[in-house]
Order: sequence, then C-alpha cells, then structure tokens
Amino acid sequence: LNIAVLISGRGSNLQSIIDNVESGYIPNANVSVVISDNKDAYGLKRAMNHGINAVFIDPAAYQSKEDLDNALLDVLARSSTDVLLLAGFMRILGSDVINAYSNRIMNIHPALLPSFKGLHAQKQALDYGVKITGCTVHFVDEGMDSGPIILQKSVPVLDSDTEESLSERILAQEHIIFPEAVKLFAEGRLYVKGRRVHIL
Ligand code: GRF
Repeated sequence: LNIAVLISGRGSNLQSIIDNVESGYIPNANVSVVISDNKDAYGLKRAMNHGINAVFIDPAAYQSKEDLDNALLDVLARSSTDVLLLAGFMRILGSDVINAYSNRIMNIHPALLPSFKGLHAQKQALDYGVKITGCTVHFVDEGMDSGPIILQKSVPVLDSDTEESLSERILAQEHIIFPEAVKLFAEGRLYVKGRRVHIL
C-alpha cells in the first residue's frame, strides 16, 4: 500500500502515520511521498528524517486551481499512490483529484463531524459550549470536511480548557485514530454504503 500524505505545517499526524508504518501496525504499507503546499512546513523535515520523498508544490507557481491539481496528480501518480492522507492540509482539493482517488482520500478533523467544520474547530467547540468534542477520520468528497466517516473518538471538554489545552487532548486522539483508519484500509476492512472499499 503506497501512502501519500499531504501537509501544510507541523506534521504531527504525519509522524504518527510514519511511526505506525515503521512499527508494522499498518501492514504492507509504506509512505511513498509527503507533499506540502508550504515550503517551511516542519512535516517536510520529518519526511526527510525518515528517507521519505518530500515534495513542495508551490501554489504561487500555477495559474489556476486546475493546474495546481494537475501538478499534484502528477506527483501522486509518479509515487504510485494507493491512498492519500490529508494531515493538516489547508486547501480544498479540486474535483479532478477527488474523482481520481474516490474513497481513497482520508482527512483528519479535530471535531466530531458534522459539527464544527472548517478552521479552528476546537475553538468553535469551546465557544459553543459543548461538553464533548473529539476528532474524526473520514473519506473526502467534494465538500469541506464532508464524506463518509471512518472513525471518531470523543474527548471531554473541561471547564478549565483553553483552546490550546483542548487542542492538545484532541491531538493525542488524532494520533491514535488516523493510523487505525489507515490500518483498516490496508486490511481491506472498510465499507462505504455496504460496498467494500477496494485497495489494489
Ligand atoms: C490537526 O489538528 C488536524 O486535525 C487538523 O490540522 C492539524 C494538523 O496538525 N486538520 P499536524 O500538522 O498533524 O501536527
């Protein structure tokens, strides 16, 4: 299973994927490429530290969103990508990419979808006053933070929480459920609307 990971920043979820591939928890898999739309993303360094191909795609170098998507599709094809993980990737993919990898793109979101889509999901949860939030791994469709849900984990909101403390507790759970979802995928154990998602 060739895994491609798209990032824009820190890359702690990327790290948890790399670690769980290296340990064998995610079977028969390798991270074949890490792609960032931000050249300063720390996740690119994490990739290089593990000898993984690290690619910066500069959004400013493309005339249109379609051109950018094509560049991305090129890199994905050259890496024989089977599954594409969005791990803190701050852009919406175009329909060409979504269609090329239908039910093979997963995103991690720091809230219990469909609540609190979009940016600053942890702050949204605090501001709303929910007592339970969490994180979600889902397949990506053309909407923002939408598509079939694969795994969710709940996290209690404490009265003493700040955006930072809550984000940190959610992140610890993200690092557990993202690899778990990829493992289920690698083992051919995921179904969407009753149909097995097929891998190879
Ligand atoms: C995570 O909170 C993830 O849920 C969100 O962006 C953040 C990325 O963190 N989509 P990292 O780059 O994986 O450390």
